[in-house]
Order: sequence, then C-alpha cells, then structure tokens
Amino acid sequence: MSKKKLGFALTGSFCTFSKALKLMEELSGIYDIVPIMSETAAATDTRFGTREHFTQEIIRITGREPISSIAGAEPIGPKKMTDAMLVAPCTGNTLAKLANGVNDTAVTMAVKSHLRNGKPVVIAVSTNDALGASAENIGKLMVRRNIYFVPMRQDDTINKPMSVVADLTEAEKAIEMALKGEQMQPVLK
Ligand SMILES: Cc1cc2nc3c(=O)[nH]c(=O)nc-3n(C[C@H](O)[C@H](O)[C@H](O)COP(=O)(O)O)c2cc1C
Repeated sequence: MSKKKLGFALTGSFCTFSKALKLMEELSGIYDIVPIMSETAAATDTRFGTREHFTQEIIRITGREPISSIAGAEPIGPKKMTDAMLVAPCTGNTLAKLANGVNDTAVTMAVKSHLRNGKPVVIAVSTNDALGASAENIGKLMVRRNIYFVPMRQDDTINKPMSVVADLTEAEKAIEMALKGEQMQPVLK
C-alpha cells in the first residue's frame, strides 16, 4: 500500500528546528513527506543554524526541495498533494494568520490550499506568548473544523510564564488520530 502524503510545514521558531527535523526523519518512515517552509524559515540564518544546513537536511530526509513560496504552495489543494498537514513548529505569527484568515506566506497558503479538500491540519505550537497575545488565536483554531493540535505544555513557568511548546514526541499519534477526525487528548499536558 502506498504511503499517505503528509505536508510538513516549518515556521520560524528556529530553536525548535532540530527537534522538528528529527520528527520529520521519523515520520518519513510512515508518510510520503511534502516539506514546506515559511519564507522566514527558509531565508534566515540564526544562532540555531544556517538556512543552508536546514534546507539540505530537509532535502536529505524527504528527497524534495522545500516549498517556500505562495505560488509553490498554491497547487497543494488542487493537485491533492497532501492527506494531512502538520505545522511544526508553528509560530505565534502563523497562528495569528491562520486564526484570522490571513494568507501571505508559503505556510498559510499551504494550509489554506490543503483545507479546501476538508483534510486535517495538525498544529504544533511553539511560542513565548501562547498564554498571552496568541491565546485567543489558539482558542479560535481549537474550535475550527479540521484543525487539531499536538499536545502541548508550558516549558518554563519561572522564566517564560506565557510560553507553550508542543510535545513533538506526541505528533505521530496526533496526526494518526487527526486523520480519523479526533483530537488527541489531553491536549494540555
Ligand atoms: C532566533 C529566532 C527565534 C525565534 N523563535 C520563535 C519562536 O520560538 N516562536 C515564535 O512564535 N516566533 C519566533 N521567532 C520569531 C519569528 O521567526 C517571526 O515572528 C517570523 O515573522 C515568523 O514568520 P513565520 O511564522 O512566517 O515563519 C524567532 C525569531 C528568531 C530570529
């Protein structure tokens, strides 16, 4: 049986990239992965690594160049390129756009294009303001059809009390359940 197709979209939470690529490697044994990067994710060198390094790693894992433009992401829905879409890591910026119907990056385009086929999107939050400005966006998305979350937790209540990160070790199960129309619980750990 051929593998299901998973869109794996990375946005600019650069400190999470190493863990996200480890997850991508694990999921590549289960799914045919279509990699997507936001323009920021694709174009920025940070202290967590260079864009060249991460792009090459994604190509090594998936055998594909990441899609990193709106025009590149637009065919995802019409060409039925994905059965599920994982956004990992998902920034506060991308959460805000998805919650409010703003589509101006490769990742928001990929999600919008994928959603037109009524297929599941699974979001792995990684933002320092998840319990601040992003809280209402997470809430809006939680009640939206075909949107699911990777279980998440506060990661440093002393130094970053509003910060929340998804537990990427739960992503595989969360995707499997989302494909059956179920939200993995507990979503807050
Ligand atoms: C080194 C570095 C780390 C960042 N980490 C995060 C993060 O963990 N979460 C977040 O929401 N934004 C983070 N940002 C900010 C985003 O990259 C920024 O909001 C960007 O506009 C996101 O665009 P995108 O959502 O299209 O990828 C970080 C920026 C830099 C330079």
